[in-house]
Amino acid sequence: MDLKEIASPIQDHLESFNHVFRRSIRSKIGLVDLVAKYIIRQKGKKVRPILVLLSAEACGGINDKTYRGATLVEILHTATLIHDDVIDDADTRRGLASINAVWKNKIAVLMGDYLLARGLLLSLDSDDFKFLKITSTSVRRMSEGEIHQIQKSRKLDMDEETYLRIIGDKTASLLSTCCEIGASSASGDPEKQRLLKVYGENVGLAFQIRDDLLDYVGRRYITGKPTGLDLSEKKLTLPLIHSFTKATKREEREILSMIKNGGKKMKVAYIVDFVTKHGGLEYAAKKAHHFASIAKEQLSSLPDSTSKEALVEFADFVVKREK
Ligand code: IPE
Ligand code: IPE
Ligand code: MG
Ligand code: MG
Repeated sequence: MDLKEIASPIQDHLESFNHVFRRSIRSKIGLVDLVAKYIIRQKGKKVRPILVLLSAEACGGINDKTYRGATLVEILHTATLIHDDVIDDADTRRGLASINAVWKNKIAVLMGDYLLARGLLLSLDSDDFKFLKITSTSVRRMSEGEIHQIQKSRKLDMDEETYLRIIGDKTASLLSTCCEIGASSASGDPEKQRLLKVYGENVGLAFQIRDDLLDYVGRRYITGKPTGLDLSEKKLTLPLIHSFTKATKREEREILSMIKNGGKKMKVAYIVDFVTKHGGLEYAAKKAHHFASIAKEQLSSLPDSTSKEALVEFADFVVKREK
C-alpha cells in the first residue's frame, strides 16, 4: 500500500489539517512569509500528521484538538529538517533546493527557531498543555540525538546499541509523540495512549533505519534529497556498523580511513559494495522489519477499525518505502 491509500480513512481530515498548517506558519514580516510560502510549496510526505490523525481515529475519533496536534508535530518536524540541512550541509530537500541553499544558514537557523516558536504558541494559545508536555520531551531527545551523532562522527566509532539510541532520540521520539498525541486527543484511556506511544517509537526506529538504507541505495530523484550524504558527513549507520562486525580489521581500517579523509578519495560505490558483500544492507532491512513487527503487536488489543488497519499498513510501508 502507498501512503495515499494508507491515509484514505482520514483523507478529508488531512485536507483540513493542511489549511490549519498553512495558516499557522504565515507571518507579517515579508521575508519570513516568503520562506513560509516556500515551505508550503515543498511537498513533504506528511507522515507525522497522518500518524496523529490515524491514531486519534483508531482511539475514538478526530476532533479540533487532533488538528492542532497534527499541526504542532508537522511544524516541529519542519523546523528540525531546516536545522538538519544546515547541520548536514544538504543542498536539496523534498525535491527542491533546501532553505539553507536558497537563503543561507543564517536565515535557515532563524526560520527553524521561528517555526519552533509558532508550534509552541499554537498549543499554548489553545491550552493544550498535555501536548506541550509530551512534545517537549521529544524536542529534547531530538536535539540530544543530533548532537550525540556529531559526537560519534568526530570519533568515527559507533556500535549498534549507540546507533539505536541515536535514531530513537532523533527520529523515533517524534513519531512516538505523534501517536501519543493523537491517542490522547481522542481518548482519556492511559493504556491506549501508552500502546500508541510504543507503536510510534518502534515504527520510528524502522523509519530511520529505512532512511539510512535509502542513503546508500535510494534514488535522489525519488527521495528528493541527496544520497551518500551520511558517509560524506561521517555518519556511520546500521549497514556499515554491521558490516564492520563481519569484515576483517584491515578492511575496516581501509573503509574508515576512506571516510575520514573524505573528499574525492571517498568512493561511495566502493563502500556500497563493501556493505553489500558483508550483508549490511540485508541486516538493516531485517532490523527494520523487526521493529515494524513490534510496532504492529501493540495494536492487537485496540478495537478493529479501518484506521487501526491503516496503522498496521503504515508499519509495512515504512520498511519498504522508496521515498
Ligand atoms: C525526514 O523525514 C527525516 C527523517 C526522520 C528521516 P520524512 O521522510 O518524513 O520527511 P518529509 O517530511 O517527507 O520531507
Ligand atoms: C534525521 O536524520 C533528521 C532528523 C530527525 C531531523 P537524517 O539527517 O538522516 O535525515 P535526512 O536524511 O536529512 O532527511
Ligand atoms: Mg540530514
Ligand atoms: Mg538521512
